[in-house]
Amino acid sequence: MSVAPMMDWTDRHCRYFHRLLSRHALLYTEMVTTGALVHGDVPRHLDFSAEEHPVALQLGGSDPLELAHCARLGEQWGYREINLNCGCPSERVQRGSFGACLMAEPQLVADCVKAMVDAVSVPVTIKHRIGIDKGERYGFVRDFVGAVSQAGCAAFLVHARNAWLKGLSPKENREVPPLRYEFVHRLKRDFPQLVFAVNGGITNGLQASRQLEQVDGVMVGRQAYHNPWWLAQWDAEFFAQAPSAISRETVEEQMTGYMAREAQAHGTPWSAIARHMLGLRNGLPGARRWRQVWSDHRLKSLHPRDVMALAHDAVARVA
Ligand SMILES: Cc1cc2nc3c(=O)[nH]c(=O)nc-3n(C[C@H](O)[C@H](O)[C@H](O)COP(=O)(O)O)c2cc1C
Repeated sequence: MSVAPMMDWTDRHCRYFHRLLSRHALLYTEMVTTGALVHGDVPRHLDFSAEEHPVALQLGGSDPLELAHCARLGEQWGYREINLNCGCPSERVQRGSFGACLMAEPQLVADCVKAMVDAVSVPVTIKHRIGIDKGERYGFVRDFVGAVSQAGCAAFLVHARNAWLKGLSPKENREVPPLRYEFVHRLKRDFPQLVFAVNGGITNGLQASRQLEQVDGVMVGRQAYHNPWWLAQWDAEFFAQAPSAISRETVEEQMTGYMAREAQAHGTPWSAIARHMLGLRNGLPGARRWRQVWSDHRLKSLHPRDVMALAHDAVARVA
């Protein structure tokens, strides 16, 4: 079970939060482009807390030498896996000739994977779609996986819908093209020796368990972000651990401590961290009031402990 890479969402603070909920889920970074690492501030993009482990770094790029360099940086920084993005359909990413449009160039992806595999000893994986534009042929993704697997790709994380490269926004590209889980199941049958995780539209434990009868892993994006409390069941349900005794209140308290430490060490405003946990009380009475307090920017000069007290008051008033 893993939490998907999500730009602007799965930053280090979000991962710290998710890790409090599940000890064993694999957590992915947001996509980091090779350009950002080659020309930019490497620690800003790669630093994270040791508590977040295991964490996988997702890279965006299409130049084998640059990807090898960035994979090496990722390994040095302590990431447990390097993942290449072959699924993002955004226009900006297409202009950079990477993301989903790479699926049209399996040999280039194989060269990229090979360069990364030669550069690092941690696993190199890719995240991709089942096709691009309106192509409906299973053979397209089968040949893509066949070519890339030769280069030493350790696992394939498959978002089970096409990416339409023209006419849809990235958001629509996560909703409009139909999900075809059977393509991923068929990949597993055709390449039983390879590792496949399925992604896209999975929102509960039953769906995840059914998928795990067919494939090796399940990657969850939006549902993990919007309803993070689900993650608190994962260790027991999917990793054979004793049921978690953690409560939402303990998690909130631990996050409050983390916010205070981050503010002191780096001047990070608590709101930059709290925004990721706004779904924590979803489904409970007072959830909306609680969320309103934790997202109230007028409180930004308060210590996070005082914000937590206000949030508790707001919940108590509803109850
Ligand atoms: C806000 C947002 C940002 C995303 N950013 C990335 C990204 O950086 N890299 C990537 O491979 N996929 C990205 N995705 C796609 C997700 O990883 C995932 O494939 C998609 O949301 C489908 O899974 P889900 O239905 O479980 O959410 C993003 C999705 C969302 C909602």
